[in-house]
Amino acid sequence: MEPNELGRLKEWFSEYCRSFYAENEADNRNFSLKETHTHHVCENMNLLTGSLKLSPNERTVAEAIALFHDVGRFEQYRRYSTFRDDISENHAALGVKVMKGEGVLANLPEEERRAIYLAVSLHNVFRVPPAINGRDLLLTRLIRDADKLDIWRVFVEFYTMPESERASAVGLGFPDLPGCSREVLDCLARRELVNLSMLKSLNDFKLLQLSWVFDLNFPASFRLMVDRGYMDGLAMTLPKDGNLVNALGLIREYVAGKAAGGDGDA
Ligand SMILES: [Fe+2]
Repeated sequence: MEPNELGRLKEWFSEYCRSFYAENEADNRNFSLKETHTHHVCENMNLLTGSLKLSPNERTVAEAIALFHDVGRFEQYRRYSTFRDDISENHAALGVKVMKGEGVLANLPEEERRAIYLAVSLHNVFRVPPAINGRDLLLTRLIRDADKLDIWRVFVEFYTMPESERASAVGLGFPDLPGCSREVLDCLARRELVNLSMLKSLNDFKLLQLSWVFDLNFPASFRLMVDRGYMDGLAMTLPKDGNLVNALGLIREYVAGKAAGGDGDA
């Protein structure tokens, strides 16, 4: 990618975002949330790629992936008024369609275009397919970590904000019931990612977000998660019920061990 191309892509993205803002304040809050999220994910990406020994070109391609990873969110919200893929459509696949339809990557070498489409399309899959390897796997892991780090920021801010100021689509509409599901606790005990299909309540959803630690890839990601207080911030919003306290203890132990690791693949 030409060195000044990333600047052009960033301008395109800002312009694209602007085209979605309209009269409705609640809708604008949801668009603005995703625009801000994107900027933070780009910053996270730069921190992560800075912690690894990547070439300047790889770092630029990685930042372009961060810039476009959620480009499908805008069209998704405009069409369906939700960020729930399960009741609308896959926002990552939609994002690739948007990029192709708009021809925004037309100036990039074919190989970089392919790598960006692939990493964007895999940024939200439950598990990365085993066939993905080499540079594709590295870029996919990077965007998945950079994204999770900022989604934690969004949720921690969301849960501590008065309800009237919240962007409505963030909580995904789960009911705020007491306790949490056994199935979710069992999943955490196995150090596995919680699946959206297991969720019955907002507490389950918060535990799903914490289970993402089992899918983080780089020591720098674990360190950022701890240093920025996301672990504590999410834990604080959960009830102090015995089962939950145990589950949080296991998660904390796992994160502390990984954060202490050296740089490179965890
Ligand atoms: Fe996304």
